Amino acid sequence: MTSPTAYERLQQLHQQLHEHNYRYYVLDDPSIPDAEYDRLFRELQQLEAEHPDWVTPSSPTQRVGAAPLSSFPEVTHELPMLSLGNVFDDSSLEAFVRRIQDNLADLGQATATPEFCCEPKLDGLAVSLIYHQGQLVQGVTRGDGQTGEGITENLRTVGSIPLTLRGERQDWPETLEVRGEVYMPRQAFEAMNDWAREEGGKVFANPRNAAAGSLRQLDPRITARRPLEFTAYQLARNSSDQQPSSHYQAMQQLATWGFKISPQLQRVQGFTELKNYCDQLADQRDELPYDIDGAVIKLNDLRLQAELGFRAREPRWATAYKYPAQEEITRLVDVEFQVGRTGAVTPVARLEPVQVAGVTVSNATLHNMDEVERLDVRVGDRVIVRRAGDVIPQIVKAVLDDRPEQTAAIRMPEHCPVCASHVERAEGEAVYRCTGGLYCPAQRKEALKHFASRKALDIEGLGEKLLDQLVERELVKTPADLYRLTADELAELDRMAAKSANNLVEALNKSKQTSLPRFIYALGIREVGEATAKGLAQYFGSLQALMQASEEQLLEVDDVGPIVAQHLHAFFQEEHNQTSIQDLLDQGIHWPETQTRREDLPLAGQTWVLTGSLESFTRDQAKERLEALGAKVSGSVSKKTSCLVAGAAAGSKLTKAESLGITVISEEELIAELTRLEE
Ligand code: IVH
Repeated sequence: MTSPTAYERLQQLHQQLHEHNYRYYVLDDPSIPDAEYDRLFRELQQLEAEHPDWVTPSSPTQRVGAAPLSSFPEVTHELPMLSLGNVFDDSSLEAFVRRIQDNLADLGQATATPEFCCEPKLDGLAVSLIYHQGQLVQGVTRGDGQTGEGITENLRTVGSIPLTLRGERQDWPETLEVRGEVYMPRQAFEAMNDWAREEGGKVFANPRNAAAGSLRQLDPRITARRPLEFTAYQLARNSSDQQPSSHYQAMQQLATWGFKISPQLQRVQGFTELKNYCDQLADQRDELPYDIDGAVIKLNDLRLQAELGFRAREPRWATAYKYPAQEEITRLVDVEFQVGRTGAVTPVARLEPVQVAGVTVSNATLHNMDEVERLDVRVGDRVIVRRAGDVIPQIVKAVLDDRPEQTAAIRMPEHCPVCASHVERAEGEAVYRCTGGLYCPAQRKEALKHFASRKALDIEGLGEKLLDQLVERELVKTPADLYRLTADELAELDRMAAKSANNLVEALNKSKQTSLPRFIYALGIREVGEATAKGLAQYFGSLQALMQASEEQLLEVDDVGPIVAQHLHAFFQEEHNQTSIQDLLDQGIHWPETQTRREDLPLAGQTWVLTGSLESFTRDQAKERLEALGAKVSGSVSKKTSCLVAGAAAGSKLTKAESLGITVISEEELIAELTRLEE
């Protein structure tokens, strides 16, 4: 077998990438990992870069977004894009069915059970796609129904819109017009908004607005980054001799050409089945990955559709059964502040209860104070509440034009509503946090879990389930309480017996003998991990010195920047924390008092590097011992390296150290040095 020529390879890549694209965007069933797709994609980009004349509009690379436009061209729809009539309840649905029956009877087509084809009414934007000889040539918005905007370049970036039809060329009609909805799935929308909230980008009120905003971009490269989808719902024009006879058949044909059609597309006979469909879809509404605002009901037979025709701007053969709105207006009664497990204090809106999408809503999230400011919402305001899927209801907007007089801006409380500790906001962060730490009941469980964890006080057998029980039964409020537990008390708990209770008491006693770094780490101060705790212990030498340190002194420690210094200072300033710490010491937690100030340690100011394999200890052990002597242990050799320890099979680091003239010692020499210095 000979390898393909470059051009053959290009065609192979086209075909493969189109196929993977289809599986990913239309079927939601990719067959290769994303990384493999990216490799194929880059290979095609490379080939096209070498042969620019091989780039065609239908190439998979041409989805990523063409150059920006200055405006969208006006495009007149060959066939107007109509709207739908609405029904809101069963009796008007029944009336719709009866009207159809009457109309059909007038046409000599009387039937007791007309056949309908039903599908969700997707909440996005209607667009029309025109294909010539199987290639997408134009995409247009609905506009006023007669004329829309040509947004071809933007629509080309939507993964589920085929650039070339699937299937055999001879089955493609000369001209094809497909209509459907462009929308943004809910999860992608939430993720996009979360990102915008953090980065200060544009936050959209709902997925529909987000989809509309994305399609309205003059720069297709922006549209390309938005997670849009397209589902087809109408075959508007088809120049082929073979015409489908029903809407259902037409949809199946579109599916074979590579369009996504609704998974809920279904045929039903007569009113009762129709009503069941609408009810069932309503029940599924919250679980669907995208917003729907109703069910669309179409008379299935296309010939009968044509005979019934239109009244004003709505077809007589179709209607929309509307579900309760996902956005409603109500009043903001109060804003309360909740404390999460990590101490984050978040504003929660209390609302005058209102029915939203079939559920009574009386609370909504406000995310954080930046969001409160962005919304400019105040207690007493009328607000628009959105509830979709199982996402917590959100306030999307305050209705500012009828704000009552004398409202005040919402402020973050200075003290934690749960434990009254100070609330602080770290620089550059959106969230405010309670500084109560161990003392705050809201944070207690999480803090206790951390305190008992392996790298902290390492209390064997004190798992999450047990901690939950201890906190819920109020047997433990602070870590020190753990040491007051008796075996009898523990034996009373679920899934505990005398033996396990005794073991736990034993483990608790054992954990009392610890080290200063472990103890500092166990306190659960924000951003103070193992390494920082070690650095602090070495630098200050005693807990006393650390607790009294100023922010400036804290900044002297390696690894401690302004944010961490601020956290540390706030933590030790808090009286509750001071009490908690003293209580632990009173319970007998202790560590060897030998720690000296870092500057006084023999290897203070030196940077050591370990390379190659060591025999007598692991690298971590060697590192720990060097650090205990005041050295900093780094992973790479530079001019600043004081000494390189070269184990067996040392490689490039050794070469580099030698070329820089840095002291190199063997494992034996390291052992000798450690033994000497540790004495
Ligand atoms: S059919 C002549 N089917 O609803 C019938 N429309 O009020 C044309 N829509 O502008 C519409 N999902 O944006 C149809 N499955 C669906 C739909 C759907 C959403 C929207 C579409 C249209 C509006 C009509």
